[in-house]
Amino acid sequence: MLCDVSVLITGGAGYIGAHIVRLLRERGDDVVVVDDLSSGDPARLGDTPLVTFDLAAADAVDRLRATIERYSVESIIHLAARKQVGESVAHPAMYFRDNIGSLANVVEACALAGVTRLVYSSSAAVYGIPSGAPVTEDAATEPINPYGETKLVGEWLVRDAAPAHGLRSVTLRYFNVAGAGWDDLGDPNVQNLVTIAIDRTVRGLAPVVFGDSFDTPDGTGVRDYVHVMDLAEAHLASLDALDALGAAGGPADATVYNVGTGQGASVREVLASLAGASGEAFDPIVDPPRPGDPPSVVADASRIAADLGWRSSRTLDEMVVSAWRAHEWRSRTPA
Ligand code: UD1
Repeated sequence: MLCDVSVLITGGAGYIGAHIVRLLRERGDDVVVVDDLSSGDPARLGDTPLVTFDLAAADAVDRLRATIERYSVESIIHLAARKQVGESVAHPAMYFRDNIGSLANVVEACALAGVTRLVYSSSAAVYGIPSGAPVTEDAATEPINPYGETKLVGEWLVRDAAPAHGLRSVTLRYFNVAGAGWDDLGDPNVQNLVTIAIDRTVRGLAPVVFGDSFDTPDGTGVRDYVHVMDLAEAHLASLDALDALGAAGGPADATVYNVGTGQGASVREVLASLAGASGEAFDPIVDPPRPGDPPSVVADASRIAADLGWRSSRTLDEMVVSAWRAHEWRSRTPA
């Protein structure tokens, strides 16, 4: 008999989603995942119920409504999205259709099925090229690629759904996410500094630094790397805040939070941490900067600390060591 209230997580079979699923299950919440498995892996989910369909498809609202009813869903965490910047530049229509289309279907299903709590996954990509100082949520949103544009338009839709449908939401702008909370939940994609540098290290290749003449302390790019477990915990804090609001009643609201550590780390610092974790010390190769790469993107994470009591607690070294261990686990484990 299904009677307990569930949290629905779209994209729950993905790298970040699976961490949220496992944390919620560990604390006893019931969870149902919707994922088209285009990049997700059902092996990450254990016995968590999985409903497989494309959220941007024509029948997605009906399928979502059926899932919401069957599992007594009261809140949704929407992560399912395409997230590769380069691909978004080559295929902007696909990004707008899939990222905005699937969110529109989620919002419509919430309105039709009476779901009033949504956590929406956004990105620091909405800021584009910030000034260099820690970026607050009130900074200008000027994305420089279609991926960031779709995340920003999504924020607007979520905000507009508050007065229209009574949808209470928290939007989380992720900074640079890496690491693993469990060895089997590491990021299998080789798309960002940590995963690219690990991949090169295991192949016996020196990591590559994209530019060492930025106006930063050591000349290499500075980012705010947040451990995926800290990020997952930010989703639980957001859900709990929405639940508390729900119990208290009051007007529907839409709040945006940066999710970062508030501390920048340079490419060289990340690579030094990886050398420590792997025991392989390479002199990095210096290549020219990538076009459009900002010198420094660091979160001001004070709003989420003040409102939700969430702060990151894990260090850069813990993050890199966990990513390295997860990679080792994957290379020992048959596919
Ligand atoms: C990433 C995301 C972006 C998101 C942002 C914050 C990609 C392509 N971009 O951007 O959508 O908004 O995080 O969430 O996923 N670097 C090297 N050598 C490498 C790889 C990277 O020096 O082999 C440098 C980059 O120049 C940059 C830093 O490492 O300074 C981080 O790069 P990356 O991991 O690609 O993330 P972002 O570009 O910050």
